[in-house]
Amino acid sequence: RRAGVAIEVGALVLVTGPPAVKAAPTPRIVNGAPADPAAFPFVAALLEADADRKQGVYQAQFCGASLTTPSVLVTAAHCVVNQKTGERLDPSEILVSFGPTLKIPNPRVIAVTGIDVHPSYRLRTADNDIAVLTLAQPVTDIPLIPVVTLSQLDEYTAAGTKATIVGWGNTSSSGNVFPDALRSGQVEIFPSPSCGSGKSYVVDGVRFRGYRSDEASAENMICAAGVTADAEVIDACQGDSGGPLLVGTGTERRLVGVVSWGERCASYFPGVYTRVSSELEFLRRTGAIPTIAPSAPPQLSVAARDGEVRVTTVAPSDGSEVTAFAVSVVNPATGEVRGCTSSPTRRTGTCSVTGLVNGTRYLVNAIYGSPLGNSPVAPNVEVIPSMQPL
Ligand code: ARG
Repeated sequence: RRAGVAIEVGALVLVTGPPAVKAAPTPRIVNGAPADPAAFPFVAALLEADADRKQGVYQAQFCGASLTTPSVLVTAAHCVVNQKTGERLDPSEILVSFGPTLKIPNPRVIAVTGIDVHPSYRLRTADNDIAVLTLAQPVTDIPLIPVVTLSQLDEYTAAGTKATIVGWGNTSSSGNVFPDALRSGQVEIFPSPSCGSGKSYVVDGVRFRGYRSDEASAENMICAAGVTADAEVIDACQGDSGGPLLVGTGTERRLVGVVSWGERCASYFPGVYTRVSSELEFLRRTGAIPTIAPSAPPQLSVAARDGEVRVTTVAPSDGSEVTAFAVSVVNPATGEVRGCTSSPTRRTGTCSVTGLVNGTRYLVNAIYGSPLGNSPVAPNVEVIPSMQPL
């Protein structure tokens, strides 16, 4: 990207026809704004180590990344895999810097000791374009950005959701203009049919084309783009790769995407982001998601039927990994206990206890199970099965 940088992080440009609509007059993150310097402390610049030694951080920056735990950054696989040979970079070839501006006297630069590339990353399609970097030492003074959890999915990635992109990437859709200070842009998440089924989508009166199924996959990718007040397209561009697509504000802000690719920049095609919620298993395994036991008991919704009690819960939102949802139904008069379990790999867990006596009072409670321990027990809920659902 910048002069003399050995790692060529090329645009993953798709072979598609030109957009039906002509390019915006002055496309200038393209069409973003300077980021509030204090707002994105968890965003790091990836540096080519050699270039950093010779020319400094500004010339060496080639991608972005997000600090999700004190010693782990999430970035794009294509940032750390040679796009021609498919070879992974050696950790010694990259450095990480924190701080919103690149041209400063004493940048905070940290070495990388590990690079985990998603095992199913595909060069050609950019499928699973995600990688995890381990820092040589943990940073304890920089706020982290939590990864979106399964239970937050609907709320955080629905079509039309407003999102933020940040990076030091090219600000020009026609030339090369690399900023010194971090920039941000507001974008909107596209519906899935525009991200793998070719459907167009309108953002603030501007119609975007969608990617077809041979171009993008809504399962692993999120498409997003924004429009300025002057109807100019807001998009990520070269150099923004690996950086975050963020949803929510303040403590509710979550990492939902990683800048991956796009048809040129700020064209009438959306930018494409790695869908982080589809990569949770990889992120957990590589330490990008803190592994904690579920801290709160399950919230139960209990329905009594004819001789049966059906209990439903949603996955916890504290980022813990739940492998089981266990319910017990106790007859307090006799002490008899009946139970059921389910494996809530998805966002809800449901199980039913049958063989109950209608008109009898039962107490229902439940826990989440996880490899790191169980949650506290949910408070008892009283139910009385009957012929008529209550
Ligand atoms: N692949 C590019 C990079 O390496 C980022 C592409 C994002 N492009 C876009 N139009 N959203 O920096």
